Amino acid sequence: MNTLMTPKVANLLNQLHQEADEQMPSVLAAVNEIRSEQTTPEEWTSDWAERMSDFYLSASREQGRFLYQTVRATKAQYVVEFGTSFGISTIYIAAALHDNHGGKLVSAELIESKAAKPKKHIHSTGLGDYVDIRIGDALETLTDPERPIDLLYLDGGPTLYPNVLKLLQPHLCEGALVIADNVPTTKEETSPYAEYVRNPTNGYISTSLEMKGGTEYSLWTGVDQN
Ligand SMILES: C[S@@+](CC[C@H](N)C(=O)[O-])C[C@H]1O[C@@H](n2cnc3c(N)ncnc32)[C@H](O)[C@@H]1O
Repeated sequence: MNTLMTPKVANLLNQLHQEADEQMPSVLAAVNEIRSEQTTPEEWTSDWAERMSDFYLSASREQGRFLYQTVRATKAQYVVEFGTSFGISTIYIAAALHDNHGGKLVSAELIESKAAKPKKHIHSTGLGDYVDIRIGDALETLTDPERPIDLLYLDGGPTLYPNVLKLLQPHLCEGALVIADNVPTTKEETSPYAEYVRNPTNGYISTSLEMKGGTEYSLWTGVDQN
């Protein structure tokens, strides 16, 4: 039986997704409140994480399964995640590493009070050995990957994706995948991150997937042609 189907993991994920779903009206209200006060993406980034610290803001069930599938299919061994929150995506990735018979996920979470929950959740599934949660700003805690990165999952503040990618690109394996949540799927509504990975001269082959708010799936070719 794969790890996602074991009662311990399946029941926990069900419970966490349900809690996340129930929070959605409050999340939307908080997002609207912040948007009404702040106008630029930079201002949004500076304190949104603090103000959203009670919320899951998690990967959807579909995204979670997709992460599991991708880690299994690519036989990824070393995965880095930007944005742990309460650990939903973390559990899917850790389950896949377990089923790959080994590997490590390093996951960064800015808010210290948030990080206790994913630690407890992951410990309760028995997948703790696969996960290293680093508390603090990802731009400081992810500076020292222990080995080349097979898969990078970006799910923290989207305005920071270009900075996190710039930090970690030198550590990506040739053929590494970078999966990013909340990346606009339309030409009319783009973002600096989308423009970067969708420009082939920067070394990525990128596809926009209609998953949740837009999920960008990018292959690092290993060759930046600039
Ligand atoms: C969308 S949530 C992550 C959801 C999580 N991946 C899941 O599926 O459950 C984004 C998280 O990124 C965290 N975050 C924001 N800025 C960060 C930063 N600079 N460094 C590390 N974490 C950050 C936020 O506190 C928040 O918990």
